[in-house]
Amino acid sequence: MQKRLLIVSNRLPISIEKNNEGYSFRQSSGGLVSAVGAYLKGHGRAVFSEKVWAGVPDCDEDIWSLASLNHGGTDYNFLPIFPSTSDYENYYNGFSNSVLWPLFHYFPSLADYRPDFFEAYKRVNEQFAEKLSQVIHEDDTVWIHDYHLMLLPGLLRKKNPGITIAFFLHIPFPSAELFRVIPRGWQRELLEGVLGADLIGFHTAEYVSHFLKSLELSIGLEQENDYITYQHREIKADAFPVSIDFSVFDNAHRLEKVSLARDRYLAIKGDKKMIFSVDRLDYTKGIFNRLRAFEHFLTTNPSYIGKIVFIMVVVPSRHSIFQYSERKKRIDEFIGRLNSTMGTISWQPVIYQYDHLSFEDLLGLYTACDVALVTPLRDGMNLVAKEFVASRNDNMGVLILSEMAGAAFELTESLLINPNDVLEMAETISVALEMDPLEQGRRLSVMRERISRYDVNAWALDFFTQLHRVKERQKKLDIR
Ligand code: G6P
Repeated sequence: MQKRLLIVSNRLPISIEKNNEGYSFRQSSGGLVSAVGAYLKGHGRAVFSEKVWAGVPDCDEDIWSLASLNHGGTDYNFLPIFPSTSDYENYYNGFSNSVLWPLFHYFPSLADYRPDFFEAYKRVNEQFAEKLSQVIHEDDTVWIHDYHLMLLPGLLRKKNPGITIAFFLHIPFPSAELFRVIPRGWQRELLEGVLGADLIGFHTAEYVSHFLKSLELSIGLEQENDYITYQHREIKADAFPVSIDFSVFDNAHRLEKVSLARDRYLAIKGDKKMIFSVDRLDYTKGIFNRLRAFEHFLTTNPSYIGKIVFIMVVVPSRHSIFQYSERKKRIDEFIGRLNSTMGTISWQPVIYQYDHLSFEDLLGLYTACDVALVTPLRDGMNLVAKEFVASRNDNMGVLILSEMAGAAFELTESLLINPNDVLEMAETISVALEMDPLEQGRRLSVMRERISRYDVNAWALDFFTQLHRVKERQKKLDIR
């Protein structure tokens, strides 16, 4: 049994909802929570003697202390951080989601470089550092996640020089050309912040090389023999493509609730073909191009009129940011128009749900559909693609995947498309629908094998093994 693990992320893995009976918990959405939560439920449960997850609850302090008494059924403890409302607004909606998120996903025109955003970002990162420093022991492993907390490794290192700190970025790291669009002083602070970690993880080798290039261009730091030397410490940056708990998805069809959900969706499907997509409502997810492609597919393949249904689930997200809220309205309008112009009294081409999806419904849809459409304009990894493949224990179904998702580097047997090419996407839908079942099985089994070998447990093991090596090397060189 190892030591204590402190997971740190902006969002905690549970969201609290108030209802008539009191409070209920729901797993928070997004890839970070799915992956790290799955690891803690799986192998991670036994690997560390004690686990703590630090983050900002999505309710105020009073509700948190009442509601979180049973830890939402988890076997780890929470360390809640409560920034002031205005700091949180400028740190989360502001710097994190109106600067780093759009820029790192190649939407530079949506970034708003307001100095007060960066000031709040610094203050909230500092607040995390303060709170963590009150509980940290010398032999803890602190694993910091994602773009909200890029300054935290450096702040923690200053306060606790000897501890083990790891950082993992769940979104793309953009090309150095794009990173240098950020005001120069902020570039330096962000990079030096991340360099407080001993190990810095990214999803793909490409993101690692972008990061290394940015170190070179922005702060004149070069990697030598696979290590970055910074303030007399040797640090490693490497690729660890995040994954899922393969066995959970592979075995889900055995669960009664999943098979009931699947039956419900099969009844809706009837003798039609079914396409399925699910994403958070985000401009990076390419939802409009996907709808345009489906519309074009219907126009160019009239034989499918009345014989296909597209179930599109959009999960609410970051609605207080304009770029998100205005999209909701436009999606509603687009689907309304498409259904009214292409549909008939007895047939609705797009069935659209704007809500969170339970595990059973998600699995019911993964296993009932013929085609999964995962077509982001840019995505760090995209776990939906991996979940769909893993849940197809029947070796049936086709994945259409954007080559702009990190997952495309691993899922090369999917039908890869450019999400900006609506015509190509429409043609690929037709290829997918016509694909021979043996070919579907051949493609799926190769991808399933690959995900089962590098599942979320292998991902974390790989990460911690590398972290251990870095620490051993630092000890040998007598540097920390
Ligand atoms: C992405 C990010 C996560 C984030 C999730 C949901 O997956 O990498 O850090 O938690 O989106 O977004 P939200 O803003 O609701 O936390």
